[in-house]
Amino acid sequence: MERVDDHLWHSVDGYWTERLLDPDPVLDAARAANAAAGLPPIDVSPAQGKMLYLLARSIGARRVLEVGTLGGYSTIWLARAVAPEGTLVTCEIDPHHAEVARANLARAGLAGTVEVRVGPALDTLAGLTGPFDLAFVDADKESNTEYVQQALRLCRPGGMIVVDNVVRGGAVGDPASTDPRVAGTRRLADALAADHRIDATMIQTVGTKGYDGFVLAVVR
Ligand code: SAH
Ligand code: DHB
Ligand code: MG
Repeated sequence: MERVDDHLWHSVDGYWTERLLDPDPVLDAARAANAAAGLPPIDVSPAQGKMLYLLARSIGARRVLEVGTLGGYSTIWLARAVAPEGTLVTCEIDPHHAEVARANLARAGLAGTVEVRVGPALDTLAGLTGPFDLAFVDADKESNTEYVQQALRLCRPGGMIVVDNVVRGGAVGDPASTDPRVAGTRRLADALAADHRIDATMIQTVGTKGYDGFVLAVVR
């Protein structure tokens, strides 16, 4: 396989991010708080966060659902797209992650916009009612199919569903992979292929998060 230097992806990510994203002390503080609290640095990149924000803005989203909060970095981006009238519900299984996220969201002035629900996302999702305009799925990859099924139930027609980490360095293209996270995403791919309620594509990405990708889907 042809290899492109990771360093090149990082520098091009930096080049564009410097130009298109405003300096953002609130987001910098959230990343610093996450690191100080020992959270893994697996949030979306700044450029990806802004993509989520722009997607939500472009469909006029007022209600957003997120599965997988971590320290709330992607949450802040999405919540800014719906604030002040809109709302966001985000699901997180780890109470420590949720506590860090709540503090970051409060510092971002978004405590009144975002509800962080602690517990297994499948339990939280089962108790929610829609309609949501956009769902961002970014938790344990093993349950991706079930998360998207719930997002389909909860999102309005024309609503958007975004799934992170659907490439994982190319591992998702390998049918022999024994990684359960890869198996979870391959199961999602088959479910999407068979589901007439949804119209989906996939975009591969490189950058500060290495080689990965998103599924972007619209509810029919
Ligand atoms: N969306 C975040 C990153 C999320 S990382 C961002 O870009 O900033 C994935 C998160 O999903 C972790 O915090 C992890 O604790 C959480 N998670 C894992 N399994 C989960 C489950 N079953 N229910 C809810 N959250 C879960
Ligand atoms: C991992 C999870 C993510 O959501 C991500 O964006 C990158 C990595 C992980 O669990 O390794
Ligand atoms: Mg992710």
